[in-house]
Amino acid sequence: MIPFNKPRLTGNERVYIDEVLKSERFAGGGPFSEKCAAWLESRLECAKAFLVPSGTAALEMMMLLAGVGPGDEVILPSFTFTSTANAVVLRGATPMFADIRPDTMNIDEEQIEKVITPQTKAICPVYYAGAACRVELIEALAKRWGLLVLPDAAQALGSFHKGRPLCSYGHMAALSFHETKNLHCGEGGALLVNNSAFAERAEIVMEKGTDRGKFFRGQVDKYSWVDLGSSFLMNEITAAFLYAQLEEADQTLQHRLELWNLYYQELEPLEKLGKLRRATPVDGHNGHIFWITLNDEGTRNALMDELKRKGIGATFHYVPLHNAPMGTRFPSGELPVTEDCAVRLLRLPLYHELSEVLRVTEAVESFLQRVP
Ligand SMILES: Cc1ncc(COP(=O)(O)O)c(C=O)c1O
Repeated sequence: MIPFNKPRLTGNERVYIDEVLKSERFAGGGPFSEKCAAWLESRLECAKAFLVPSGTAALEMMMLLAGVGPGDEVILPSFTFTSTANAVVLRGATPMFADIRPDTMNIDEEQIEKVITPQTKAICPVYYAGAACRVELIEALAKRWGLLVLPDAAQALGSFHKGRPLCSYGHMAALSFHETKNLHCGEGGALLVNNSAFAERAEIVMEKGTDRGKFFRGQVDKYSWVDLGSSFLMNEITAAFLYAQLEEADQTLQHRLELWNLYYQELEPLEKLGKLRRATPVDGHNGHIFWITLNDEGTRNALMDELKRKGIGATFHYVPLHNAPMGTRFPSGELPVTEDCAVRLLRLPLYHELSEVLRVTEAVESFLQRVP
């Protein structure tokens, strides 16, 4: 059996969790949380990192801090996880879907301007599979129109773009440490604040709308309700787990790329025969997902079933949001590339301990050779 994903354990998770148990300090903001935040700030070159319970929470906190509200529109791809759009809708704002590019599945930079209206507040690109889009163009566009850039960087830890960590682009960015991600803590996330104007309020918002942070630092003699907020802190046990992962980041990311490259190399002949298309090796990507697109939906589904019969967990991604029951409540133009790619895309197994890439590629090849 080759599962689609198997979360890696580096070994020190237990050791650090034991330290927390001994310390009897479990709530957020403890020593491991601080170490994780410091690691993220220095490695991802962001002004401030806030550890939160999930990537979803990071997106929700980001939209709240950005001041997204009723009457506003936020531009995002329809080819993304529900959390990207929910974060917008939970603020009472409207998601405006832009089409994607077939080479990366990322928002098509050329399509963004078409959906900008006087109500547009922000652009939320999603770095699918940890691959960068031309985010510097999106930043320039946003500047011209007076918009915020708020990337969903859930899959982008360890990615680079033009020599800079990808997460350092945009006003803020949302990161996920869900167990399917390259580095994980079961459920977890981080809000990365690149524009320090948002940092002071972030501390209040994540502490249920109180100035408890200032109180702990002795800057006020009592804390109270000063702003909107919610429970956005990662607990210390989870942070301890996460720190063990961050310490091993280089090795984990390098190995993941090696596996990704092996898939890329092994599937080249099938691409040359026109049987499939491989994910584009975008400069600086982090090997988060190895995807292929088949020539039509039927072939994709039949291959997925065949792999399943052989004990190989391959899976689709995503049902486009604009066509999903909740998504149809919002206006959307035609998104032909999204609709075409979403039904042809297949993700192949990819995780640290995967030793059978060749078994997967042979199974793909033996199936596709039988397809006319
Ligand atoms: C693009 C994208 N956005 C948001 C999320 C949500 O992250 P989480 O599962 O940590 O809440 C995920 C991951 O699951 C994701 O891949």
